[in-house]
Amino acid sequence: MQTTSRNTPIDFDIVSQQIEELNVPVVGKATIREIKRLVDNIEKASGKKFIRMEMGVPGLPPAAVGTEAEIEALRRGVAAIYPDIDGIPMLKQEVSKFVKNFLDVDVKPEGCIPTVGSMQGGFAAFLTLARMDAKKDTTLFIDPGFPVHKQQHRVLGQKFASFDVYNYRGEALRAKLESFFSMGNIHSVLYSNPNNPSWICFTDEELKIIGDLANQYNVVILEDLAYFGMDFRKDYSKPGVPPFQPTVAKYTDNYILFISSSKAFSYAGQRIGMMVISDSLFQRQSRDLLRYYSSDIFGRAMIFGTVYSLSSGTAHSAQYALAAILKAANEGRFNFVNDVREYGEKAKIMKKLFTDNGFHIVYDKDIDQPIADGFYFTIMYPGFDGPDLIEELLYYGISAISLSITGSEHSEGLRACVSLVSRTQFPDLEYRLKMFKEHHPVS
Ligand SMILES: Cc1ncc(COP(=O)(O)O)c(C=O)c1O
Repeated sequence: MQTTSRNTPIDFDIVSQQIEELNVPVVGKATIREIKRLVDNIEKASGKKFIRMEMGVPGLPPAAVGTEAEIEALRRGVAAIYPDIDGIPMLKQEVSKFVKNFLDVDVKPEGCIPTVGSMQGGFAAFLTLARMDAKKDTTLFIDPGFPVHKQQHRVLGQKFASFDVYNYRGEALRAKLESFFSMGNIHSVLYSNPNNPSWICFTDEELKIIGDLANQYNVVILEDLAYFGMDFRKDYSKPGVPPFQPTVAKYTDNYILFISSSKAFSYAGQRIGMMVISDSLFQRQSRDLLRYYSSDIFGRAMIFGTVYSLSSGTAHSAQYALAAILKAANEGRFNFVNDVREYGEKAKIMKKLFTDNGFHIVYDKDIDQPIADGFYFTIMYPGFDGPDLIEELLYYGISAISLSITGSEHSEGLRACVSLVSRTQFPDLEYRLKMFKEHHPVS
């Protein structure tokens, strides 16, 4: 569907021309980075600022305690020295304490490994897990999800399966997971919680189902906590005090947790994250590992085989930054959740602006509860499919990405990210959405 009016908030001809110059078959199916470039170009050509919701980047300053510690470490000369592959001892201890304080889970420092962002942690995990048991060669994604994880599988030449969890919440999740696990080829399952892009948060009942089945079928659960503590319906910010960030680690020992510092600590630029391997998985022995590694112990294969091959560890100074951030959080001196609460508050207002103007929230519930307000939300507009809606919204100065690239079956939906939208833009957003509604009446 194309707009019939030329009276759009962003000059119609400029947008059309820039779309043409992008030279892709369907603009709404372009990658996140292509959309970003297109919007940059339209903003430049039109002199008008967009409501930019396409990229999931932090919109806040980095945790200051990290920056200070990193500068100090650099001054001390750590840049000249190779860090230990599995992380500096001080960081490993703080990660272990953090996991205890905010998840109420015990993991030895040995299994707490810094990686070059969570992105590298995922890559290392997929690579190693696919080599642990010759009969198990496939990762299962509980979608919708972060498209780069699938890209990692493609470049590794590894297999994956996936399903959209939309119709399998609560007890229905059990049979769906069993239908995959019973085939015997799944080595691990990955999901993010809170979920990028839909912001659904699994309930404890669902996490128990996942954990129980992981035990029964010996499948490793890869829990991606990129948005740690950011289900703002509960306060997960107090160290050692319930409630704790929900986790599958309460229900199985068969897990790896990925804790990114990009969003929770606004530390994306330094590319440091944490891979937390359970004590029991770390020690697990498998002869099949010897086909690729000098050790048959999973944790050693991961560190001295995979992480060593990929990057020989993580930047030294960034490790000091993360250690200082975690220490401050562990000691209750740095409330990292309060620092990012602004995302949820903006989401609440923005979602209302969209729904007041004819849009619907696609993933709208956690079983029987309304979805939380956080970093992302999902939207649709009657009569549009996702790619058409992306293109049409460009004329109204609003950018987002299509859910179709996230493994969602709701191809009519878009993912909207709140981080880069400032409150001063809300009147503009409201005006543009009103105009959109006026130009696209819903019968
Ligand atoms: C679900 C999910 N996992 C992982 C990442 C990557 O995290 P990092 O920046 O630590 O590599 C992101 C970043 O957007 C994400 O949304």
